[in-house]
Amino acid sequence: MNLILLGPPGAGKGTQAKELEEGHGLAWLSTGDMLRSAVASGSEIGRRAKAVMERGELVSDDIMIAMIGERIGRSDCARGFILDGFPRTVAQAEGLDSMLAQEGRSLDRVIEMRVDDDALVDRISGRFSCTACGAGYHDRHRRPRIEGVCDSCGGTEFSRRKDDNAETVKTRLAAYHDQTAPLLPYYRKRGALATVDGMASIDEVKQQIAAVVEAGDV
Ligand code: AP5
Repeated sequence: MNLILLGPPGAGKGTQAKELEEGHGLAWLSTGDMLRSAVASGSEIGRRAKAVMERGELVSDDIMIAMIGERIGRSDCARGFILDGFPRTVAQAEGLDSMLAQEGRSLDRVIEMRVDDDALVDRISGRFSCTACGAGYHDRHRRPRIEGVCDSCGGTEFSRRKDDNAETVKTRLAAYHDQTAPLLPYYRKRGALATVDGMASIDEVKQQIAAVVEAGDV
């Protein structure tokens, strides 16, 4: 099964992609994580992407399409994948369509996670993650079970993303509304779009997504 989780910054895409990865054995492909690794490694792509990400703008379509093209060809995607953060423009969606068509594959579902802008700012400003394994938490909505200790790996160091600040969040939200929201009619037209209420609790959203996945392909 090949899925896209589509939603604004802080909608909970990463939180739910991790659940789907663990529950369904699908490969979780987060373009944000791939770019952050590229920045950390100091690669050419990382150098080009760093300032763009810090401003909250979108990295160029050619870089993103090439990055995903290479990634979905790997063996761990054979059972299926969850795209988290890609596509983000109509050009990226068209690039994905051609890549999948060339490989005789297709998309099963595009799941829109709908969340109000005010809630997104709250979610992003309270987010932190385990430095060792990347497990995500929130100051109020999802704290580690034992204070200061990661539920997943027992790590004790946590970090916050550089682009999770009030000014950058505004730019990221504007980029979503201007450049990514046009993907909703793009996928609705072909009958692939399902919408879940991303304002619900993490567990309730998980159940809504499970119902969409169990309903099968389009
Ligand atoms: P990326 O890393 O993709 O960031 P994003 O889309 O802004 O999304 P986030 O990771 O911020 O949010 P999320 O939806 O995963 O929410 P999460 O689950 O963490 O991209 C970063 C940058 O990279 C972009 O700005 C751009 O520059 C670049 N980039 C990446 N892909 C690109 C592309 N394709 N093209 C061009 N540029 C690209 O949840 C947020 C918080 O809320 C957490 O603390 C969580 O615990 C909490 N939470 C989750 N669900 C709930 C809930 N239901 N109720 C309460 N709290 C919740």
